[in-house]
Amino acid sequence: MSLTVYRRAHFNAAHRLFKDGWSDEKNYEVFGKCSNPNYHGHNYELEVGVTGDVDPETGFVIDLSLLKAIIKEEVETPFDHKNLNVEVPEFMELNPTVENIAIVIWKKLSERLNEKYQITVKLYETPRNFVVYTG
Ligand code: NI
Repeated sequence: MSLTVYRRAHFNAAHRLFKDGWSDEKNYEVFGKCSNPNYHGHNYELEVGVTGDVDPETGFVIDLSLLKAIIKEEVETPFDHKNLNVEVPEFMELNPTVENIAIVIWKKLSERLNEKYQITVKLYETPRNFVVYTG
């Protein structure tokens, strides 16, 4: 019997969306306010889903305290209150769009979780803008 367990997490981070080599005007045209050269912040809301079979012995798909600890180590500690472009190695060369941040989070979590699980990353950049990545 397969189902999905979810854990919510949160981080605040600053970023700037831009393409190197484009003028500030061109970056503004494509990325809008998110291209501000002096950076700005978002309150990111994260939902991580782990799909798998219910263990008949424990009744768990995954121990939520383990999932909580992995999200803290892989996402909250390295990303919270950071400037993603400047302080987080994954985004020094990669534009920190909500799409790319979700993909990076998915990859980091998939390296830590047993490969028997299907992982879903839902990431909100604003209450109305969000992406879902399932690998
Ligand atoms: Ni932004």
